[in-house]
Amino acid sequence: MDSIVVQGGQALKGSIPIAGAKNACLTLMPATLLSEEPLTLTNAPRLSDIRTMTLLLQSLGAEVSSLAEGGVLAMSSHDINNHTADYDIVRKMRASILVLGPMLARDGHAIVSLPGGCAIGARPVDLHLKALEALGAELDLREGYVHAKATGGRLKGGRYAFPIVSVGATENALLAAVLAKGTSVLENVAREPEIMDLAQCLRAMGAHIEGEGTDTLTIEGVDRLHGATHPVVTDRIELGTYMLAPLIAGGEVTLQGGRRGLLEAFCERIEAAGAEVTEGPEGLTVRRANGPMRAVDVETAPFPGFPTDLQAQMMAMLCTAEGTSVLDEKIFENRFMHAPELTRMGAKIDVHGGTATVTGVDRLRGAPVMATDLRASVSLILAGLAAEGETKVSRVYHLDRGYEHVVRKLSGVGAKIERVKDDV
Ligand code: UD1
Repeated sequence: MDSIVVQGGQALKGSIPIAGAKNACLTLMPATLLSEEPLTLTNAPRLSDIRTMTLLLQSLGAEVSSLAEGGVLAMSSHDINNHTADYDIVRKMRASILVLGPMLARDGHAIVSLPGGCAIGARPVDLHLKALEALGAELDLREGYVHAKATGGRLKGGRYAFPIVSVGATENALLAAVLAKGTSVLENVAREPEIMDLAQCLRAMGAHIEGEGTDTLTIEGVDRLHGATHPVVTDRIELGTYMLAPLIAGGEVTLQGGRRGLLEAFCERIEAAGAEVTEGPEGLTVRRANGPMRAVDVETAPFPGFPTDLQAQMMAMLCTAEGTSVLDEKIFENRFMHAPELTRMGAKIDVHGGTATVTGVDRLRGAPVMATDLRASVSLILAGLAAEGETKVSRVYHLDRGYEHVVRKLSGVGAKIERVKDDV
């Protein structure tokens, strides 16, 4: 297993290119199952989660190319000869459940393993299943698998109001409704940029969708979809992560391809904490406005609110901001596993339920720390950028799921960071 070693104390200067969004790519890839014609994505990121989705689609009979220059991922689902998504792949990645809606919509039947628990809370898939039932799916849960059939062989348009906003359940329902017979209305849907991206890709394939970006989606099902080429939207979580780097370490960094509209609530919070964010033709440029960063309160919420996927990184920044900040995590229970690790580096953090209170200290000190999930691991690297001495982050396989070339990108702006093989 590899670790990442950071020597703190270098101010950062330069540009970081931002990749295509992991979470968009993971919902765009299953869209290939909806058509017999090829779907090609460009700007796809090079990440282990994308490889897992590739293996899953290949196990169903889809052809998926390896990632070419420019992030080109060519897919074709002419021959889908297996309708079972096996536990061995699904357990590695929750987003695997996103093949359920398209398989059911295309061929009227599918068997998909339930994803199981995950380090950041229980994360059930009940809303995915309820939305598909509203579109005419008959579901049977047996031996850890969802056995799904479309009544009469084809899904039909239906109405479903989500009781809480769910990104994945909105995506699954949308992926299914585009081929259902008749009109579907989905209410209280997620409005994340990744959902807008999915709707745009499906529309390029011939789907009839209205309302993306609002809380209601209206979908007029079509009999077939055709091929398309679609660029994956910029990864707003990678963008926000690297925007925090110069605020923690000092200096000035331009995030190439970054747009404020992807992260308005986040920009507003870091500006309140003392950041200066400038939008230019190349992207977003970030530095401290004047003097040290200050405490701010943060509450996570579905888009357009502050993203839960940036909460850990924001906490890393607030550990050395002046004053006391309160972070309320409203999306996932048990998403403060980075807090004890940051405490090992000298941070002052009290966690009670879904609330963390962070009192800024003058300086963190490097320490050996352990990554517990994707966003937690990158928060420890960010903390290490300004810590005194060496921070060694182990279990970085979490990081490989969501950040491509993290060492290259941060060393490119002057950070002292390297990846090392652990002794076994
Ligand atoms: C997606 C993102 C993840 C991000 C999250 C919230 C992907 C691959 N992952 O995850 O990075 O942190 O959105 O922005 O895009 N819930 C239920 N029942 C369900 C589904 C969800 O109760 O059937 C709950 C969850 O436990 C959670 C909340 O709804 O408390 C929101 O989860 P959801 O938006 O579905 O997250 P994901 O799609 O899993």
